[in-house]
Amino acid sequence: MELYQATTTAPVNIAVIKYWGKRDAKLNLPTNSSLSVTLSQDDLRALTTASCSPTFTEDRLWLNGVEESVATSSRLTACIDNLRQLRAELEQENPSAPRLSTFKLHICSENNFPTAAGLASSAAGFAALVRAIADLYQLPQSAKDLSRIARQGSGSACRSLMGGYVSWEMGEADDGNDSLAEQVAPQSHWPEMRAAVLVVSAERKTVPSTAGMQATVATSALFRHRADVVVPERMSAMKRAIKEKDFEAFADLTMKDSNQFHAVCLDTSPPIFYLNDTSRACIRFVEELNRSAGKVIAAYTYDAGPNCVIYYTVENEEIVLGALKKCLANIDGWRERDAALAASLPEGFDSRTLDA
Ligand code: DP6
Repeated sequence: MELYQATTTAPVNIAVIKYWGKRDAKLNLPTNSSLSVTLSQDDLRALTTASCSPTFTEDRLWLNGVEESVATSSRLTACIDNLRQLRAELEQENPSAPRLSTFKLHICSENNFPTAAGLASSAAGFAALVRAIADLYQLPQSAKDLSRIARQGSGSACRSLMGGYVSWEMGEADDGNDSLAEQVAPQSHWPEMRAAVLVVSAERKTVPSTAGMQATVATSALFRHRADVVVPERMSAMKRAIKEKDFEAFADLTMKDSNQFHAVCLDTSPPIFYLNDTSRACIRFVEELNRSAGKVIAAYTYDAGPNCVIYYTVENEEIVLGALKKCLANIDGWRERDAALAASLPEGFDSRTLDA
């Protein structure tokens, strides 16, 4: 059987300046730029195989072993159509290249972490899907070019096509041509950076990101101020903090931006609550840790869910993780959640440290 296949992995990224709000829902154009750190692939990643063959009769996708409809997902079809178009152009230029653009695709993707629990699963998933199909089609486009396509699958996915510290520049064009990811610095620029991911709950989020941000844009008065005034300033300050490897500035901006993102969620009508009591206990823990250290050595951040990511640098690893373990032992119900999670994450879970 004539079969072409490519397999790839894509990592999760955790935003330190949050994307929240679309100015164009169809093209997935954001109301503000954002910036994230791409985590190590060893711990949280999506693994995707794309194959195509003249014998396939329709485009099909399996996510964690369960088939999802491709035809009814405008996000999936937007990504696939764009990539197919690029392959068709390549085939026109190279008449001897196999006509892969005319074959149907089968895509198989697996996450090694809870899906849709506010752990950037759609980011890793769409980044891996776009990368796998681009590899299958042997497309010459750069990661930056492909980020334009991944963005249409899920906004945050455009940042997972690059390692290290990555910004998503919102752009101005109506067609989204300049709404792209850019690497601010590679991982090697600041190799001391670490992230601990605390999975407070592996359940699906209560309000999906897209619906949540649409509601925020429509109803929050705070939101406009955030998008127009606060985020542009923070983007510059965050890029500076990363360039200068200034952890205190990085941490301060990260925590403020997470808190403001959850504040605009609360300011949405009806209000959206992503944090729970355990999340809030982790915030108090980090604040107290920094106070007792006499300087900022750790920064918390939360996406659209209760799970906590704590950034710190390697020289403070023992202090941060040691204190964290002690604190978790005192949080009611943590052990039960911990045990429940061990079943869903193959490598078990304690406080998982990831090379950022
Ligand atoms: C809170 O990228 O999942 O994680 O574009 O609608 O798919 P869609 O949204 P998505 O939103 C992520 C929001 C966030 C912040 C961030 O990652 O920047």
